[in-house]
Amino acid sequence: MYRLLALASGRGSNFLAILNAIESGEIPNAKMVGLITDRENTGAEEHAKKYQVPVKVIPFKNYPTKDDFYQDLLLAAKSFEPDLILGAGFMRILPPEFIRSFPDRIMNIHPSLLPAFPGMNAQKQAYEYGVKVSGCTVHFMDEGVDTGPIILQKAVEIPEGSSVEEITQLILKEEHQLYIKAIKLFCENKLVIEYNTSKTRKIVRIKSS
Ligand code: GAR
Repeated sequence: MYRLLALASGRGSNFLAILNAIESGEIPNAKMVGLITDRENTGAEEHAKKYQVPVKVIPFKNYPTKDDFYQDLLLAAKSFEPDLILGAGFMRILPPEFIRSFPDRIMNIHPSLLPAFPGMNAQKQAYEYGVKVSGCTVHFMDEGVDTGPIILQKAVEIPEGSSVEEITQLILKEEHQLYIKAIKLFCENKLVIEYNTSKTRKIVRIKSS
């Protein structure tokens, strides 16, 4: 059984999709061992309670400094002894010490086709840029902002005249499925991280069997 730990800041629809996929057997060999949120009363916390997943709330606003917050976040994450950490709408950039504590074991979902539109409000960035196709990306986190090795991507066509909210919904639907696929691949030991030929970045190769 792979021990999954989710980090979330809000609604938690990706988190819920993952819980459902574990429950239905779509991800057969994984268990959600915990959820950490950085604020109180999130949708993600509600979902966790329904599924009896232990929750640790570490409210960012109660900490005098960022360092103090991240120290507690790291301690909390380690306490769950996760095999894989999942950023599920976690709206903070994890510091290098955190990333290095779980090398190649932190996944994230991002609502754009990276490397396009990293950072906050990716769907609005896509809207403002006027792209006709956007999508979502599941990647391993590294020390940059949405720069880590890409695991899976799904393109989403943007119908003419779509609002930011419509784009967000179209992408979100695909996010849920893509994240589950990526977690499944991880739990099947099918993800190989290696350097590209020019040794400039790590990339993910997916084993076929
Ligand atoms: C999702 O769209 C996710 O891709 C995005 O936040 C939303 C969380 O929704 N994450 C980022 O933008 C990370 N840079 P959810 O709480 O319903 O899963």
